[in-house]
Amino acid sequence: MTILIKNGTVVSATGRTAADVLIDGEKIVAVLAPGSVLLGTDLAADVDQVIDATGKYVIPGGIDAHTHMEMPFGGSFASDTFETGTTAAAIGGTTSIVDFVVQYPDQRPLDQYHLWQEKAGGNCAIDYGFHQILSDVGDESLKAMDELITEGVTSFKLFMAYKGVFLSDDGQILRAFQKGAENGAMMMMHAENGAMIDVLVQQAIAAGNTGPYYHGITRPWQAEEEATHRAIMIADLTGAPLYVVHVSAKQAVDQIATARDKGLNIFGETCPQYLYLSLEEQLGAPGFEGAKWVCSTPLRSRAEGHQDHMWQSLRTNDIQMVSTDHCPFCMKEQKELGIGDFSKIPNGIGSVEHRMDLMYQGVVNGQLTLERWVEITSTTPARMFGMYGKKGVIAPGADGDVVIYDPNGHTSIGLPVDADGNPTGRSHHMNMDYSAWEGFEIDGRVDTVLSRGKVVVDGGNYIGTKGHGQYIKRGLSQYLN
Ligand code: URP
Ligand code: ZN
Ligand code: ZN
Ligand code: ZN
Repeated sequence: MTILIKNGTVVSATGRTAADVLIDGEKIVAVLAPGSVLLGTDLAADVDQVIDATGKYVIPGGIDAHTHMEMPFGGSFASDTFETGTTAAAIGGTTSIVDFVVQYPDQRPLDQYHLWQEKAGGNCAIDYGFHQILSDVGDESLKAMDELITEGVTSFKLFMAYKGVFLSDDGQILRAFQKGAENGAMMMMHAENGAMIDVLVQQAIAAGNTGPYYHGITRPWQAEEEATHRAIMIADLTGAPLYVVHVSAKQAVDQIATARDKGLNIFGETCPQYLYLSLEEQLGAPGFEGAKWVCSTPLRSRAEGHQDHMWQSLRTNDIQMVSTDHCPFCMKEQKELGIGDFSKIPNGIGSVEHRMDLMYQGVVNGQLTLERWVEITSTTPARMFGMYGKKGVIAPGADGDVVIYDPNGHTSIGLPVDADGNPTGRSHHMNMDYSAWEGFEIDGRVDTVLSRGKVVVDGGNYIGTKGHGQYIKRGLSQYLN
């Protein structure tokens, strides 16, 4: 099967140009001047399918490097399966995810890795890779790191919060980072001071401050800045590269920027929620509504200016990329577990379907260039996590992962409701009974999506199949100094 994408504007991290893209089977084989005639043959007449991209952008498929499909949590699971979550991702222009294998303290990392392979295998609409979460690091996890790298799991997330569940202490973190420095792994950190947070949470509940707003109040920016600084010091001491996940506080950004100015391999990720949403407007919504936006790190105060600083940091490359931290829980029976005690609200927001659109709106709003949009949503994620060349670029030899994006289209996000406020249908495809992005209007639209040379979204409609997605065996980071 050969496909020619004609008449579009091909946008990369470094520029834009009018070009046609030729795909043969699963791979891109040529990027050509418009209307090229190769060895006397008219390509457009010769290929199996021509897709007209006139007036549209042709970009490398989105890569969401932070998702939690079916993540086990307190006897429940994040509400998207690999099937529903990757289907929603595809519809939104994302053609690869990197999901987190979860290891709880009583489990073995490699067992969990194999379990995640079973969960995802045969179920994904798009390609998928894995990071590994290591809880309560010990000898077994350190040994597993070497083996996992040979399996293509080249990045490991540790936690400075959630005592008794995920938390590793500084000595454990030091040992894991030493291992990462030795074997080339990317160390990832959930940087929040859990001990401080646990006390603040107890005090808030005891004082009767039990609503979702206090989730934000009890996880202050100081807890994020302090932990970010500490993680950077451990990375500097050991020589391991460090990627700080879900950065939301401007003070944490500045810790990362300072470390980068020293030439250290320190990187930061932010998420759409920290760019658009806030403590006051969302977590502070009336009644229990704020539960929809309970995630960690929490949404920050707009009065303090975190959101604006986060947009700026994307322009200055103090923050390198945007993932979603897609971790959906329904209001019914899941978020509701925390009525009367915000600390029991499952943490997470679902956005995997909307990341490309939400970040494109940053281009429309003048906060990002078109090229930077491609860079932070596809090219850098590919380089950061050892997939570049195969993913993250439109060039001969790369996988045929391509999004045709229509800047003249429009996308309304949210759940339409009837006069009584009951949902009448779904304008999103994630398995959630609400949208954290209700009411967002995007001046652009995902038109066509190809995953390894197969059209999986046509004119906005999903036509892919579960099981098309393949495991991405990743290499070491291609983003290091
Ligand atoms: O609230 C969040 N972020 N849930 C997912 C788990 C994590 O810490 O990334
Ligand atoms: Zn985290
Ligand atoms: Zn700054
Ligand atoms: Zn996460």
